[in-house]
Amino acid sequence: MYRSKIAGIGYYVPERVVTNDDLSKVMDTTDEWIQERTGIRERRYGQKHHETTSSMGAKAARIACERAGIEPSEIDFIIFATLSPDYYFPGCGVLMQRELGITESEAGALDIRNQCSGFIYALSIADQFVKCGTYKNVLVVGAEMHSMGLDFSTRGRNVTVIFGDGAGAAVIQRSENESRGILTTKLHADGTYAEKLAFINPGAHGGYHMDHLDEKVDYGYPPADTYGEIFITPKMMEEGMTYPNMEGQFVFKLAVTKFPEVIREALQEQGLQTSDISMLIPHQANLRISQMIQRQLGLKDDQVWNNIQKFGNTTAASVPIALCEAWEAGKIKEGDLVCLAAFGSGFTWASALIRW
Ligand code: ACO
Repeated sequence: MYRSKIAGIGYYVPERVVTNDDLSKVMDTTDEWIQERTGIRERRYGQKHHETTSSMGAKAARIACERAGIEPSEIDFIIFATLSPDYYFPGCGVLMQRELGITESEAGALDIRNQCSGFIYALSIADQFVKCGTYKNVLVVGAEMHSMGLDFSTRGRNVTVIFGDGAGAAVIQRSENESRGILTTKLHADGTYAEKLAFINPGAHGGYHMDHLDEKVDYGYPPADTYGEIFITPKMMEEGMTYPNMEGQFVFKLAVTKFPEVIREALQEQGLQTSDISMLIPHQANLRISQMIQRQLGLKDDQVWNNIQKFGNTTAASVPIALCEAWEAGKIKEGDLVCLAAFGSGFTWASALIRW
C-alpha cells in the first residue's frame, strides 16, 4: 500500500463580484439580512456564454497541476464533483478533459453528485485509487456555476442569496512518505430527508417520491400513458418549480450536529484530539454554522478558515477553494494536521484528515 498526498492545489473564481446590495435591486432582501443570517457580503458569478462549470474547473486544474509539477497530460484519472453541470449528460469530467486538451491520454473521468460534500467524497475515491497503486496522479475537482440556475425573484431569495460560482482542484499523488498525506476519510449519507434541500426538476421522477414531500405537488405531468414532457412540463416552467429549494432551518440544525460528529469520528480513528487540528476547513455553508462547529470543537479563530464572506456558498468548490486560499496565505505548513469537513444535500456528510 502507498500513501496519497495533495501534491498541488488551485482555485479559480470569476471576476464579476455581486454584492448583497446588487441582489437587493432585483429581489426583496437587504445587505443587513444576508450578513446577519449567513455572514456573506458578496459572491462571484461566472460570465454567461464564456464560462461554465467545466471551464472554471479546468482553470483551477491547470494551477493545481503546475503546483504539483506535472503536465495535465500526466493525469491518470479525473474525478469531478458538481451539482451544476454544463449538461445533464455527459458529465463535466469529460468536458474538462477536452478543455484541458488531454483527450489523447484517454484517462478515465468520473462525475460524482454529492453536492456540498462532493469534493471530500472525490478526494476519498482518489485516495483509494492511489493507495492501492492503480493510479499515480488523480485530478480531483469541485466546481459550480450556480448563477445559471437560481431564482432571482423574491420567491427564491432564501436560496439565491447564499450561492456563488467558482472552482477548486487538487492533484492527489502517490507518496512514499508513510507519515504524511491523507490519513483518513469518513463518508456518510442518509437519504431520509432528500427533498429538504434539493433541485428536483428537471428530473425523471414523474412524481414518484410524492410521499416524501411535505405537501402534494402537481407537476403538471401528462396522463401516465403519454410519453414525453417527462423532464420539464410547461407547469413547472410557469410556476418556478425548476429551481433549488431548501428548508433552511432544518438543514442548519442537522449540519451543526453532523459536522462535529464526522470530524470527531476521523480524529478518534487516528488517535488524535481536536486540539491537534492545525487548520479546519469547513464547507462554507453559512458563517453561523462554521462558528457553531468551532465553538463545539473548542477551536481558536486561527484554527478555522472561513471565506464565505467573499465567495458565498460554492457547494462542491467551497472546500478546495478555502483549502487553497488558506495554503496560499501561508496558514498551512508542512507537518500540519488539516481537517476538511462538509455537510449538504442528500443528506451527505464527510471529513478528511491530512498530514500536510
Ligand atoms: N432576505 C430577506 N428576508 C428573507 C430572505 C432574504 N434573502 N430569505 C428569507 N427571508 C425571510 C423569510 O421569508 C422569513 O420571513 P417571515 O418570517 O416573514 O416568514 C424570514 O426571513 C426568516 O426566514 P428563515 O428561513 O426562518 O430564516 P433563517 O434564520 O433560518 O435563515 C438561512 C435562513 C440563512 C437559509 C438559514 O436557515 C440557513 O443558513 N440554513 C442552513 C442552510 C444552509 O446552510 N444552506 C446552505 C446551502 S446547503 C449546504 O451547503 C449545507
